[in-house]
Amino acid sequence: MRAVAEAGINVALIKYWGKRDASQNLPAVSSLALTLKSPGTKTSVEFVPSLSADQFELNGEPCEDKGVLACLDEVRALSGLDLRARVVSQNSVLTASGLASSASGFAALGVAAWCAAGLPFEAESPRPELVHLVRRGSGSAPRSLLGGLVELDRETGLVHQLLSPEDCPYRLVIAVLSHQKKAVSSREGMRRTVQTSPYFADFAASNASDLAAAKEAIKSSNFEQLGAAMERSTWRMHAAMIASDPPLRYMTSGSLRVIERLEALRAEGIPVFFTEDAGPQVKALCRTEHLSQLLDALRSLSEPLDLQWAEPGPGARCWIEA
Ligand code: PMV
Repeated sequence: MRAVAEAGINVALIKYWGKRDASQNLPAVSSLALTLKSPGTKTSVEFVPSLSADQFELNGEPCEDKGVLACLDEVRALSGLDLRARVVSQNSVLTASGLASSASGFAALGVAAWCAAGLPFEAESPRPELVHLVRRGSGSAPRSLLGGLVELDRETGLVHQLLSPEDCPYRLVIAVLSHQKKAVSSREGMRRTVQTSPYFADFAASNASDLAAAKEAIKSSNFEQLGAAMERSTWRMHAAMIASDPPLRYMTSGSLRVIERLEALRAEGIPVFFTEDAGPQVKALCRTEHLSQLLDALRSLSEPLDLQWAEPGPGARCWIEA
């Protein structure tokens, strides 16, 4: 039985940075993210009696990844299945550059392996064991299990949907400034920030009020308030990163030029808001009706940008192929 799963990346509005339990990959703070229709990952998993070792192919190339093997081991333990797996994955996301490719990657892998092992999958309310499984692969991956606006709770490590993709009247533009892999992984960056940044505690302490403001804004359909909370959370995360020793500076001069253009556009009366993760790429959120003005503003920059836009998307989905 070959199970195929698809998942889109998600972009955090209220940021997760830092772990409170590294072994379970439990976050130090709650987060809130928008799952996108694309880019994303499509992965098939098949448990095959004749295989003597797990096989993993990523974008047509054989690949070794401890996280993938750990995920398969856990599915075997949960299901009692004792067979090796063939995993084939197609990732349309730029990897390891602050575009959360690991989120869609582990959401698709976890769901495909789960279904291939015959475990029950309910797309709207994934079992806690499945959420824990994908979270151990990547801290932000559980958010890609659900569509639209999704909260990942710090206490439980579980996810719930705040708004369906159909009810999210937004578009997200990703301004790709660099195709290079980041020098410091999120895992190492988080460890360094928690251990050395005097501002990490302040970032973590401000999470509750930023999250509450964002949730209130979602409830009252107040896009400006949602965008403001997203920018506060973003600046606070980057401030904590920059104050690490040695500093973690994912924001580049190019990112700042894009952010300044977005601020100017906002001053002209177009409500657009930015966020940025562990890489130089800037993500801009706008209402659907302002997408073309946002794209025109970014195209007017002399910065060489690869611009991609995305719409809110569904959570991970899975089907069986003969
Ligand atoms: O899931 P990870 O380990 O790639 O961490 C993601 C962290 C950020 O993207 C910087 C913020 C977030 O909440 O997605």
